Amino acid sequence: MAIRKVGVLGCGLMGSGIAQTCAQSGIDTVVLEVSQPLLDKGLAAIDKFLKAGVERGKLAASDREGTLARLKGTTQHADLSGCDLIIEAVIENLDRKREIFAKLDAVCGPATIFASNTSSLSITELAAATKRPQRFIGLHFFNPVPLMKLVEVVRTIMTDDAVFQEALAFAAQIHKTAIRTSDRTGFIVNRLLVPYLLDSVRALEEGVGSIQDIDEAMKLGCGYPMGPLTLLDFVGLDTTYFIANVFFEEFREPRFAPPPLLKRMVMAGYHGRKSGRGFYIYSGDRPVPDNALSGLREGGSR
Ligand code: 3HC
Repeated sequence: MAIRKVGVLGCGLMGSGIAQTCAQSGIDTVVLEVSQPLLDKGLAAIDKFLKAGVERGKLAASDREGTLARLKGTTQHADLSGCDLIIEAVIENLDRKREIFAKLDAVCGPATIFASNTSSLSITELAAATKRPQRFIGLHFFNPVPLMKLVEVVRTIMTDDAVFQEALAFAAQIHKTAIRTSDRTGFIVNRLLVPYLLDSVRALEEGVGSIQDIDEAMKLGCGYPMGPLTLLDFVGLDTTYFIANVFFEEFREPRFAPPPLLKRMVMAGYHGRKSGRGFYIYSGDRPVPDNALSGLREGGSR
C-alpha cells in the first residue's frame, strides 16, 4: 500500500532534505523539530532549495507551491499521529533517538512503520527499544537528499518481510533507487566511503599532497564529483569523526580509526562548510584551501 502521510523527526540538513523529497513526491509530510527557531531555519532551507530549483528551471512554480502546501512543520509530537511512516533524522545520539521513538510509540498506531536515517548506529538496537521491532527499518539517505538518488534500505533480523517490501516500494514512491542491506555498521556506502575519507586525511598528514592536489587527484583521476577533503567539509568533520569512532568501536580495524588531524580539527571547531572552516576556508566568494593544516603554504612548498 502506498505511503500517504510521512512524519520526519528533525529538520536539520538531512531531515529537511528528506521532508522536502517526500512532499515533492506528493506525500503529505509533517516535520518535527525541538524548537520553533530550529524548525523555521529548516523550513527556510527547504524554501530556498525549491526557489533555486524554480530559478534553474528544474521545478515548475506550481510544484514548489504544491510541495510547500503538503509540508507541515511542528514542534508537537501529537501532530505525527496518523502517519504511515516515521523517518527519524535527529542528532546521532542513541539516547536521544530512543527517547523520541518512545514518545512516538505512544502517539502512533500499531501499523505505523518506524525508520531511522542513522549513518552509524545500530538499527537493531534502536528497533529493540521500541514496541514495534518488526516494523522498524533503516532508511539511509545521502546529502543533499533532494539531489542524491540513493537510499539504503536496511533490515534487521527482526524486520517483517512485508515491512521491508513496503520500505522498498516507498523508496520508489519518492523516486529514489533503493539498495538492500543488512544492519552492519556503515551499511554499504559508509563502510566503503569512510575509510577512503579518513585515508585522504592521512595522505594530507603524511605530506603526500596538498589539500587542492588530493582533491583534484580524485576528481579528475577517478571522476568523483567532489574531492575527498571537499566532501569531508560537506558532510561535516564532526559527523565524520563521530562515525569513525563508532566504526572503530565496532570493527577495531586501524582503517576506521580517526586520524589525529581530524580529531584536532574537530576540537578546534573546524567542522567544515557549516562552521565556515574545515580543510577549506569559506569566508570569501570561493573556498580557499587552508594550507596551514598540512604545513604547506600557498604555492605548495613546505
Ligand atoms: N533544485 C533542483 N535541482 C537542482 C538544485 C535545486 N535547488 N540545485 C542543483 N540542482 C541540480 C542541477 O540543476 C544539476 O542538474 P543537472 O545535472 O541535470 O544539470 C544538479 O542538480 C547538480 O547541481 P550543480 O550543477 O549546481 O552542482 P554540482 O554539479 O556541483 O553537484 C552535488 C552538486 C550533487 C552535491 C555533487 O557535487 C555531488 O554529487 N557531490 C557528492 C555528494 C556526496 O557524495 N554525497 C554523499 C555524502 S555521504 C552521506 O551523505 C552519508 C552520510 O551518512 C555521511
